[in-house]
Amino acid sequence: MISRLLFRRLTERHNAGTSVLGVRMRHTEDYHKNWEHKRHKHHVAATIVGAGAGVALWLGYNHQTGASSLPIEAEEDLEKYGAFRNGLPEYTLEDVSKHATMEDRIWVAYRRGVYDITDLIHKHPGGDKILMGAGGSVEPFWALYAVHKSAHVLEWFESYRIGNLAADDIGSSVRNMNDPYGNEPRRHIALKPSSKKPFNAEPPLSLLVDNLITPNGLFYVRNHLPVPEIDAANYELEICDEGAKKEKTLTLEDIKKYPKITITATIQCAGNRRSEMTKVKPVKGLSWGQAAIGNATWSGARLCDVLKDMGIEDGKTDALHVQFEGLDTDPANMPYGSSIPIEKALNPHGDVILAYEMNGEPIPRDHGYPLRVIVPGVVGARNVKWLGRIIVSKEESDAHWQQNDYKGFAPSVDWDTVDFKKSPAIQELPVISAICEPSEGEKVKVVNGKIKVKGYAWSGGGRKIIRVDVSGDGGKNWQAADVLESDGSRHPKAWGWTIWTAEVPVHGKESEVQLCAKAVDSQYNTQPENFENIWNLRGVLANAYHRVNVKKGK
Ligand code: MTE
Repeated sequence: MISRLLFRRLTERHNAGTSVLGVRMRHTEDYHKNWEHKRHKHHVAATIVGAGAGVALWLGYNHQTGASSLPIEAEEDLEKYGAFRNGLPEYTLEDVSKHATMEDRIWVAYRRGVYDITDLIHKHPGGDKILMGAGGSVEPFWALYAVHKSAHVLEWFESYRIGNLAADDIGSSVRNMNDPYGNEPRRHIALKPSSKKPFNAEPPLSLLVDNLITPNGLFYVRNHLPVPEIDAANYELEICDEGAKKEKTLTLEDIKKYPKITITATIQCAGNRRSEMTKVKPVKGLSWGQAAIGNATWSGARLCDVLKDMGIEDGKTDALHVQFEGLDTDPANMPYGSSIPIEKALNPHGDVILAYEMNGEPIPRDHGYPLRVIVPGVVGARNVKWLGRIIVSKEESDAHWQQNDYKGFAPSVDWDTVDFKKSPAIQELPVISAICEPSEGEKVKVVNGKIKVKGYAWSGGGRKIIRVDVSGDGGKNWQAADVLESDGSRHPKAWGWTIWTAEVPVHGKESEVQLCAKAVDSQYNTQPENFENIWNLRGVLANAYHRVNVKKGK
């Protein structure tokens, strides 16, 4: 007999947007209550393109155009988009609802406008999740992805305009709708947001390297959706072994009964330093500086211990992946999701933990309260926050973030030619470093012909930083950084970063110099010289030499 969790999982997969997640409702009741009545009556996403496939168009914007690279415009400047336009036919929401399939052409409404987006769906990479708004209004969805409130996006959308929405129907889809971001946590004032809804922010670079362990309040935040409100007392983690058709539900207290492991691990977003890559040629994504990275201690239960109790051990399972789902969900109730290879999950030396503490405190809401998975050495995207479910499976996660994002491509691949199936999902990250002090354009004191430079370096896969080379003349001459500070872990379990300092000679007569840094890891991997050769359309894996131009001062 098929079990309750398996059954629910299967039905969810096949009815994206239609299922009611019983357990999940308990965790995040208010949040879901808000959304429950807003879920669209047309489930064309499931019928036309298959449940869970693809990228939200609104999500696509979030990922691809990059909230931060777009100016955050004032509401009144955006009012012309979706406004009444003379000379266009009028349609009711009833008319719009008749266009919810490809055969009937896909229509949507936005404010006073009616749009035929049939051609947009095919053109836009992963544009199919907009189909959840098909035959209705996109406004409830766009409330989640405030990045749409940008002239750049709305102007493009306006080119698909076919009519005006009947006056009586305007705003009906968002009437009585609460702001899904109405209950976000308080954030440290020093965090610089690159997008506010969802919240994405990094600390100032100079503060980043003040501490080997990044304080919780200064740890960068990368959220794709609103932060769920979870009551730890009612929290439950579902674990599902698809092969053995077994499942288990654990409370936070159950998880705390396992031996408590503490590791120091750096988490880095795949898009860290994207703002440098985009200077070569524009890329799509949040315009992160060099601080979408942080280093913390994480405490919790080893994933392999928890899985062992279900009989999932090396050599005893034919599963290939461990999937993770968050309790943050999109308007169709599809959770944030990702997966890692089973080998990493089951390796006791892999140190994958179900973490309930960050730097000795309960994990803050922004970072996954009450439980997140920490997959040390692996890209941030796989470190799923607000963990709701673990699925041990032969398949990778079919979530957007595993299939259609966080992948690298050759510099020649553009949005017309990209095929996300052709690249594997990023797991272990390559070696990277950044100069955090001084900053670009700063006037710097030269003492005894030298400038003091400070930064971080890190490599994925537990590879240790063995050297950081620093140049004071744009990369002609190099010397090793004098001090490397780390938590002392050895390769291949050096999960944490290294903070380095160097006294760099700047003997030339020129008033401006270019500082450069490149790190070397314990497998002697080093960073590429420039971004031209590693450019990719999503701006991920941006690990070329970090270059900072400074003025010499006295
Ligand atoms: N987990 C959930 N549930 N939802 C998310 O949006 N973002 C991922 C990952 N885990 C995300 C998530 C990404 S892309 C990154 S880089 C890290 O969380 C960021 O972790 P942080 O916000 O704690 O720094």
